[in-house]
Amino acid sequence: MTLTVGIDVGGTKIAAGVVAEDGTVLETTRRESPAEHPAAIADAIGALVAEYAGEHEIAGVGVAAAGFIDLARTEVMFAPNLAWRDEPLRQLVADRVSLPTVIENDANAAAWAEYRFGAGQGARTLAMVTIGTGIGGGLVLGGPENGAVFRGGFGVAAEFGHMRVVPGGRTCACGLRGCWEQYGSGTGLTTRARELAIEDPAGAAILLELAGGDAAAIEGPMVSEAAGRGDRAALTSFAELGRWIGEGLGSLTAILDPDVIIVGGGVSESSWLDMETIRTAFEGAETGFGHRPAPVIARAALGNEAGLIGAADLARRP
Ligand code: BGC
Ligand code: NA
Ligand code: ZN
Repeated sequence: MTLTVGIDVGGTKIAAGVVAEDGTVLETTRRESPAEHPAAIADAIGALVAEYAGEHEIAGVGVAAAGFIDLARTEVMFAPNLAWRDEPLRQLVADRVSLPTVIENDANAAAWAEYRFGAGQGARTLAMVTIGTGIGGGLVLGGPENGAVFRGGFGVAAEFGHMRVVPGGRTCACGLRGCWEQYGSGTGLTTRARELAIEDPAGAAILLELAGGDAAAIEGPMVSEAAGRGDRAALTSFAELGRWIGEGLGSLTAILDPDVIIVGGGVSESSWLDMETIRTAFEGAETGFGHRPAPVIARAALGNEAGLIGAADLARRP
């Protein structure tokens, strides 16, 4: 049994794990992202891999990163939420781990993991969204047997989070306005909760209490906790989040016609993000709904580990 290490570098956290050929995760580690700088991230990855290599025989390393990876999979060309530009990530990591190293977009890696081992097994056309700091997108095309991550002409396919859903809308970390990820992500959730707390403080009493009375201090975990305690603004924020996600997925079907759609990422693990809300919004936004086969819309079976599992598996097929 060969083992590989998968690492998921996100907006705020690094998740790593030792993964077997069948997708089983033997061990995981979670760290705060050490710094915005890729060399510091590569140092942290080097240290993690060295730890794992003390206990296991590791054959390769796969790094999933929240940005645009070039077609040759050597660099992160652009990463809205990490502020990376033209970073030679593959080499930075390879220099430190001295093992075969593969890099991939985080959501592409997650989609691949779900296709191989999770809720996307058997899919003909799989579309995945990861709901976290941003919205990641991944596409696996080619059918149940011969699927492959679809990378587009330059490696940047399936950047679903930057579809414009509101002309002139909220400013996105990518520099554009009105991107889907400013509404249908964890960032969208907190932005909305803050707005509601300012518009109607009485309806956001629990949320404001958790934030020390300061709407601008509201963070994602507070929205979950407040929802659990029945806070009206928090519940509304989650309901709107579900609607934004479902509507965006409806639009995607006009282009992709997936038979399986998977919703993953850290925020999707919250029980307050309701799949029925997503499905209902989807139905209202899919062209020809009711006159075409309905895709399966499922939560990620591998949860928030999908990215690292996918990266580890891709390290086996450089
Ligand atoms: C980035 C994607 C990434 C996604 C999820 C987006 O803002 O553009 O490359 O996959 O966030 O992390
Ligand atoms: Na992607
Ligand atoms: Zn954007």
